[in-house]
Amino acid sequence: MNRFENKIALVTGSTQGIGAACAVRLASEGADIILNGRKFDERAEGLISQITAMGRRATFVAADVSATQNVVNLVNDAIKVYGSIDILVNNAGVEKNHNFLDVTEDEYDFVMDTNLKGIFFGIQAFVKYCVSYNKPGVVVNMSSVHEEIIFPHFAAYCASKGGLKMLTRNLATELAPFNVRINNVAPGAISTPINHALIENAELLEKVLKNIPMKKLGKPEDVAAVVAFLASADAEYVTGSTYFVDGGLTYHYEEQ
Ligand code: NAI
Repeated sequence: MNRFENKIALVTGSTQGIGAACAVRLASEGADIILNGRKFDERAEGLISQITAMGRRATFVAADVSATQNVVNLVNDAIKVYGSIDILVNNAGVEKNHNFLDVTEDEYDFVMDTNLKGIFFGIQAFVKYCVSYNKPGVVVNMSSVHEEIIFPHFAAYCASKGGLKMLTRNLATELAPFNVRINNVAPGAISTPINHALIENAELLEKVLKNIPMKKLGKPEDVAAVVAFLASADAEYVTGSTYFVDGGLTYHYEEQ
């Protein structure tokens, strides 16, 4: 399949985990890729080599997407690299485990600024570009099952992903006249560095797996496959939705 021939995708937070899998998957179907992270490192270098070896172009643009001006600059710099962007994957995200009563403003801002504010203004910059060049666009946001289900001690994270759910629902209507589609992908428990502590803790892992009907963690590639679908013309009539990639976690029923 070459669903992304002549397409250019910007994937935020793409030097590891789900973002890296998205970058590789989109490239494997023909896209040129703008990788992003806070700073260039050997993982970015490795991904550029991997994507280049697939016959596609890849460039890294450093930006901390939690600050509005940074994310606006990232989108505009990314457009300059290969002359355009067709697909924006807002993947970068952070989480913090805190009792609600202990959360400080800085900790709240760290989560909300990355997971919601940066995405909000990144989409705004991308859509301004699409509108000014009369170009269609596709946005895929990396949400979470926690846009839908609770996660005690992760209140800011849940607030950010819940906000992302409504941002996407709202923008689908507002951006449809501009030919811009926007959807969320909501991963469940995926085997990535963000879940390092969980993967290393057999007891906790067993507890988590009890709640997953498919009884296994997902792979970054499982998420990337759904991102690729939503970014492609196969999903041309899909906007304002969330696709769950969770092994059945969100709506599971536990036998008593
Ligand atoms: P990860 O921690 O392995 O990777 C996240 C990447 O984003 C890292 O490369 C990190 O450096 C980058 N990043 C974080 N803040 C950034 C910032 N301000 N500016 C630029 N880059 C930044 O995480 P993972 O697991 O790959 O998660 C990716 C997305 O998927 C996140 O939005 C996360 O909330 C979401 N997700 C992950 C789940 C999982 O089980 N792994 C479950 C549900 C959602």
